[in-house]
Amino acid sequence: MSAPGSGRGQWSSQVGFVLAAAGSAVGLGNIWRFPYSAGENGGGAFVLVYLLCVLGLGLPVMLLEISLGRATQKTPVGAIRAVRPYGPWKGLGYLAIITGLGILSFYAVIAGQVVAYFVDYAQRVVTDQSIFSAYNGWESVVFFAVFLVLTVLVVMGGLQRGIERWSKILMPLLLILMLGIILRGIFLPGAGEGLRWLLMPDFSKLNLHVVLEAMAQAFFSLSLGMGAMLTYGSYLSKKQDIFHCGTWVVFFDTLVAVLAGLMIFPAVFALGQQPDAGPNLIFKVLPAVFAGMTGGNLVGAVFFFLLSLAALTSTVSLLEVISAYCIDERGWSRARTVWIAAGTTLLVGVPSALAWVGASPWATMRILGREGFFSLMDFAWVNLSLPFGALMLCIFATYVWGLDQAASEILSSSPGFRLLAAPWRFFVRWVCPIFIAVILASQLGVF
Ligand code: TRP
Repeated sequence: MSAPGSGRGQWSSQVGFVLAAAGSAVGLGNIWRFPYSAGENGGGAFVLVYLLCVLGLGLPVMLLEISLGRATQKTPVGAIRAVRPYGPWKGLGYLAIITGLGILSFYAVIAGQVVAYFVDYAQRVVTDQSIFSAYNGWESVVFFAVFLVLTVLVVMGGLQRGIERWSKILMPLLLILMLGIILRGIFLPGAGEGLRWLLMPDFSKLNLHVVLEAMAQAFFSLSLGMGAMLTYGSYLSKKQDIFHCGTWVVFFDTLVAVLAGLMIFPAVFALGQQPDAGPNLIFKVLPAVFAGMTGGNLVGAVFFFLLSLAALTSTVSLLEVISAYCIDERGWSRARTVWIAAGTTLLVGVPSALAWVGASPWATMRILGREGFFSLMDFAWVNLSLPFGALMLCIFATYVWGLDQAASEILSSSPGFRLLAAPWRFFVRWVCPIFIAVILASQLGVF
């Protein structure tokens, strides 16, 4: 493989791609956002709709993104332009880049918070969740900036050295630790209530808003709708099996989300906390769980360390998409691009960081029915922009690129896909776009 900068890099192996794509997919989306979103949206019914969205929308769009990336060997703007050199479609490529920046601007705030927790656990004995209130707004900006710098350093290291190496070692470790924390949680008295709440759907909790949240969460968690998987697919060689890789990433990501649910909710109920605590949920529940464990401080330190790294493999993929455009299409140097992109993200993200800790005007402002700048960002980029991007990509694939082309790109290296090609085309042509359009329209108040 050649180093990025001296031509396009390629994954050294199929496993390298899967781990890096899984590294992008698995992150705060699974461990922070999935539990709090499930918590705010009523539990079991949300989880069921989420799983259906992963299968019915996430998997088809995943295969589509990877195949468009590999077919064109380009990143979002270039890929769209390679298929349709003129006209408004390339706007979809630019939207991908802006969305990436928007997501990174609040995602890295949470990631910074995770690092702050790690530092706390590593430094002193933490007995309860009081650490949270010890941060003020500017500290949260500092941790946010620190996280962006870490991301820059990995992305500058280039494709293989930077991304692949980390993902390989640390994902399995995180999983093992989560299993340990789950075992602890489900044996707490009263934990059964939480399991029931998470796993038994209560359909009276279901409405269109819950469906939108579940759909957006599925795209977010799988890193879909803004060309991240497309970009990773562009580094995939023609021999590697798209179907196999894509399914594996979807499976693994979903497994981690479900495990995160199992880690959080039995403890929430056993400890008498509220499932709908919002974005703070894991930052309140986990310290309480760790506080009641022997060696809990060490577990806390290791957990937040590994979670920081899981977040890092995700922020890396966001920054990679933004940068790959400037590098591939504009001919900027990697170093220059990456620092400029991170600097812009920092500026956009400062209000989110200030809003996150509360007690600032950014936290209390109301726009578009959202309270606080942070939740506005989260809503705009995750709930609206990602589903919209996925919707447009399906339309693009159906009417511009052509589903024959798309399917043959997958089939050329995935013999196992033959029987599924027809249903897949049906989903990309009809099911995904109609479903997404109806849910988005209903949430925007069209009906
Ligand atoms: N999927 C990641 C997570 O669950 C977040 C993420 C990384 C992402 N890259 C993305 C989300 C691209 C959407 C698009 O934490």
